[in-house]
Amino acid sequence: MRALAPFLLLAIIACSDAPQGETDASDSKSGAPAPETLYRSKNCITCHGKDLGGTMLAPSIRGLGAHWKPDDLAAFLKEPKAWLEKDARLAETARAYRSPMPPTFGTDAERLALAQWLLAQP
Ligand code: HEC
Repeated sequence: MRALAPFLLLAIIACSDAPQGETDASDSKSGAPAPETLYRSKNCITCHGKDLGGTMLAPSIRGLGAHWKPDDLAAFLKEPKAWLEKDARLAETARAYRSPMPPTFGTDAERLALAQWLLAQP
């Protein structure tokens, strides 16, 4: 009977990892933050505005579907400067703003999720 005690303890610990309620907007399957949460937490909102409509610091990022595919947009977020060299439209856009778009830190999965979400916005 005594030999059973450590096993029971382990079983209790394993079971105590109960699912937690949804505390903020997150992808319930992966546990990753939702893209709209990333848009705020990665400071995009400071320059591109609450409604993606742009500010004095950055252009509107609505209707991006006309210019971008998800993979390219994710790559741009990672290294914006590199894209200015190969995209004349973007370089022209950039000239209207004092500071360039900064690289987006985080994982490739986060950048792709952000890109897909942005492209889904009208
Ligand atoms: C410091 C201000 C600033 C921040 C913060 C910022 N951006 Fe930008 N963003 C810009 C500027 C300026 C441009 C214009 C192009 C350039 O300078 O590279 C731009 C361009 C873009 C474009 C391309 C628009 C087009 O016409 O194709 C997208 C998409 C974009 N930003 C998304 C984001 C996202 C998503 C974030 C957060 C992860 C973010 N930006 C954070 C300033 C910012």
